[in-house]
Amino acid sequence: MAYNFTTISKRYGKGSFKWQEMANYGVRPEEDIIPFSVADMELETAPEIKEALKKEIDDYVLGYANPTASYREACCAWQEKRHHWAAKPEWICPSHGVVDAFFTAVKAYTQPGDGVMLMTPVYYPMYHAVLDTGRKLVDCPLVEQGDSYAIDFADFERKAKDLHTKMLILCSPHNPAGRVWTREELQKISEICLANGVLVVSDEIHDDLIMPGYEHTVYASLSQEAEQNCLVLTAPSKTFNLAGLQTSNIFIPNASLRARYMEYLKETNPNPKCNILGYLACETAYRHCEDWLDQCLQVIDANRKLVIGFMKQKFPQIKVKRLEGTYLLWMDWRGLGIDYKELERINCQEARLFFDEGYIFGKQGEGFERWNLACPTRYIQEALERMEKAYRKYVK
Ligand SMILES: Cc1ncc(COP(=O)(O)O)c(C=O)c1O
Repeated sequence: MAYNFTTISKRYGKGSFKWQEMANYGVRPEEDIIPFSVADMELETAPEIKEALKKEIDDYVLGYANPTASYREACCAWQEKRHHWAAKPEWICPSHGVVDAFFTAVKAYTQPGDGVMLMTPVYYPMYHAVLDTGRKLVDCPLVEQGDSYAIDFADFERKAKDLHTKMLILCSPHNPAGRVWTREELQKISEICLANGVLVVSDEIHDDLIMPGYEHTVYASLSQEAEQNCLVLTAPSKTFNLAGLQTSNIFIPNASLRARYMEYLKETNPNPKCNILGYLACETAYRHCEDWLDQCLQVIDANRKLVIGFMKQKFPQIKVKRLEGTYLLWMDWRGLGIDYKELERINCQEARLFFDEGYIFGKQGEGFERWNLACPTRYIQEALERMEKAYRKYVK
């Protein structure tokens, strides 16, 4: 079946965080283009998910819920099918979100003053999970290498060896750098972390959004030792655009780490509630929507190619980083010679384009823009036309 990736119903004024944020910046949502910022999709929900939710509302009682055995099996079957990882149903600790989960992990497994490693620039709530909880940020900057990024392993190892360093929050695939870490890179990370007693919290929320030619490796699938020294944070939220249903799955293979996580949750939130519709949507997606995802990935890939081709031809000063995974294109605009705050102003006020500004991902992000490609292709075409018009007077 061919799915619809060309139309979307109106989101502004209906509580969409992304659209509201754009309005708060003074870009008029009623007249303007789709925001290309926050990582949710401007695409219709898969029809199978909509149908299942409608049916559930007709047939069922929306009372308190727990994940069923069938739900847990569906999550594991998905990991096996898409990522060749044999997870066990009992490893899953349900959570309202991956951000909640990495905050919980930091608080459950480390003490104030302990060091937590981040590979920067990185998804900005990770900084908050470290700094707002009184932990020490152990910054492991990624190294720019042509149109991509690499890990400086000598630096990484030196920092892991510091006795205060207790945890790595790994972003895999990496947002915003667009890297899908290779098995070899992950293997090196795991050897260093195991040798130095560093627990790995692997945020794999973008695991299914992989561009042609790349393959995602689940951190826990590296070896039995790695499996016993990690948490794998997953969700259907990015893959199937279900973030508003607040349902994610935290895989913790090590029984004592899992017990500690659950105990910490009990102490801090003694009666956590789960979202019955979120479970249903997630299970339906994993069981019935693989085709939808594969077609969606083709749209993202086409959008990626369109932007790359345009930049090469019209703005060769803008260097687009290689997109291996996620639908978030990371672009270096420094070659235009325009201050990063001025870029933000031109984009919002003149081009009427709304990206996520690179600086929110850390100092290395200044002068970068992150472009969310998960939208109908005609929005990208429109955006490129606007960009060309707005920048004509700034770029000779
Ligand atoms: C790397 C990463 N982790 C987590 C999240 C958000 O997770 P959740 O909505 O489940 O809290 C995002 C959203 O953009 C993300 O990019």
